[in-house]
Amino acid sequence: MRRSLYEDLVDWYHLLDARENHAEEVEVYDALLEEAVDGPYRTFLELGAGAGNNGYYFRQRRACTLTDLSAAMLELSRAQNPDCEHVVGDMRTMRLGREFDAVLVHDAVVYMLSEEDLRRAADTAFVHTRPGGAALFTPDIIRDTFREFHEDDASDDEEGRGMRYIAWVTDPDPEDSTYRVDYAFLLRDKSGIRPVHETHEEGLFSRATWVRILVEAGFEVELRARPLDGVDEGHAYCPEVFLCRRPRA
Ligand SMILES: C[S@@+](CC[C@H](N)C(=O)[O-])C[C@H]1O[C@@H](n2cnc3c(N)ncnc32)[C@H](O)[C@@H]1O
Repeated sequence: MRRSLYEDLVDWYHLLDARENHAEEVEVYDALLEEAVDGPYRTFLELGAGAGNNGYYFRQRRACTLTDLSAAMLELSRAQNPDCEHVVGDMRTMRLGREFDAVLVHDAVVYMLSEEDLRRAADTAFVHTRPGGAALFTPDIIRDTFREFHEDDASDDEEGRGMRYIAWVTDPDPEDSTYRVDYAFLLRDKSGIRPVHETHEEGLFSRATWVRILVEAGFEVELRARPLDGVDEGHAYCPEVFLCRRPRA
């Protein structure tokens, strides 16, 4: 599915998600991976790395390969992470033919809409994790703690562009494996103000389903606390992350 946010609107992406928002989160994720990896932790792969905001902090410690479905998003990443390898690829199907010490599947995993999608992403992470290595999955939202909410924000850059936005999270059909995010943006630049509305369908799975799929992929799975400092009250973000070890043969 084509999403304008990651194609036509990439020039505005820094106003939606500033790199600095990722610094503390990466501290925690890198420490979890370091703890879980058995042996050296040098190479790092991210599936769905987008603008490379996590990658920017990981690359200061690890040799990073950053992958994403959108070539336009990877261009943003290339600009801020010129020393990283970048590969366009779908996390459900991509095969690099190499293994890494650690693999991160961050918020992009929300675009896995069915158990089959999630299983394919888990398999991709597994085949790219070396025996003794670790993978970390950090879905934004899981079924167990889901509730409808909205968040909004405002940001401006030094070139005089501004974004005001609301993300409205609802679950029109509680029986299926998805929820819906309606993004409404007001984008302001020299030419005036432009409204954009875009709906994203995102995957909703229970904690038990997550664990089952990750175990079936071959991982040993542990739930650990997710850093949620700075997130607005009233959110429904998943309070945990899934820390996975690939056993040695
Ligand atoms: C919110 S952005 C990720 C931002 C990223 N965490 C960062 O640090 O900048 C979500 C990304 O998921 C990517 N995406 C969506 N479906 C995907 C798939 N099937 N495989 C890989 N990437 C995917 C989109 O192209 C988009 O760049």
